[in-house]
Amino acid sequence: MAGYHRVESLRRALAEERAQGRTLALVPTMGNLHEGHLQLVRLAKQHCDLVVVSIFVNPLQFGLSEDWEQYPRTLEADMARLEAESCDYLFHPEEKEIYPNGMADQTRVVVPTMTDILCGASRPRHFEGVTTVVSKLFNIVQPDKAVFGIKDYQQLAVIRRMVEDLCLSVEIVAAPIARDEDGLALSSRNSYLTTGERPRVTVLYRTLCWCRDQITQLGRRDFSVLEEAAAERIQEAGFRPDYVSIRNARTLDPAAHDDEEMVVLGAMYTTGARLIDNVTLTLG
Ligand code: PAJ
Repeated sequence: MAGYHRVESLRRALAEERAQGRTLALVPTMGNLHEGHLQLVRLAKQHCDLVVVSIFVNPLQFGLSEDWEQYPRTLEADMARLEAESCDYLFHPEEKEIYPNGMADQTRVVVPTMTDILCGASRPRHFEGVTTVVSKLFNIVQPDKAVFGIKDYQQLAVIRRMVEDLCLSVEIVAAPIARDEDGLALSSRNSYLTTGERPRVTVLYRTLCWCRDQITQLGRRDFSVLEEAAAERIQEAGFRPDYVSIRNARTLDPAAHDDEEMVVLGAMYTTGARLIDNVTLTLG
């Protein structure tokens, strides 16, 4: 695996690969790699000749009161894990390499409306930070495909929308959610959980599955009643729900009674973390 922290040297190396006719898949990450990230790398390798993984804890997508400073940075361990996988190129730039003109004056890429809801409602401008850095990574790497996890469902939908709206020539590949044995979706932020709350946080996934089953097995369509009952379940387990919401799987609009593809999304606060998860369902 070749590692680069400069844009220009990575560009040169990848231009050479492209000239040799090799296809490239990009896997953008913020590091602290776990099995979920590694599954993205493996999926990327199934799609293209070469895999480029980026590791950059993007300050532009963190709010002022959020965890940018404490976010786990584990580059040595990440590199060892990527070496053991099928990663060909690692891009791990410094902040000044990505934002040479500073963050305040950085040109932004904004997907409107669908970024104001769900996670966007409690994390203002978060998705703007994501779409801006992902656009930059697309322009630097110019990948044929880019792999994103369904774990961050809204992020995936926003990026798909950006690609469509800006006619970007990259194909977005979605990777399934990797979970611990008890159902908890793997996340770098799980390291913020206390040992006391760790067994109980599965309430998020269990509650989303309960909502899904109420819709698929009992035929319920009283979505707002379900959403309220779900939030109560989370509260009863000792956590503060941010939202539980049943949406159209593609547009993220509130689910309509005759929608065939839906997603149940949820977010909740623990003592030191904010966890998100989702389950999809298909009717008919
Ligand atoms: P990060 O949280 O590091 O996640 C990188 C990628 O891994 C994302 O596409 C995310 O959806 C995926 N991922 C995380 N946990 C997963 C799991 N349990 N199962 C499957 N995939 C999982 O998401 C970001 O970084 C950033 O916002 C980024 C896109 C890199 C832009 O800065």
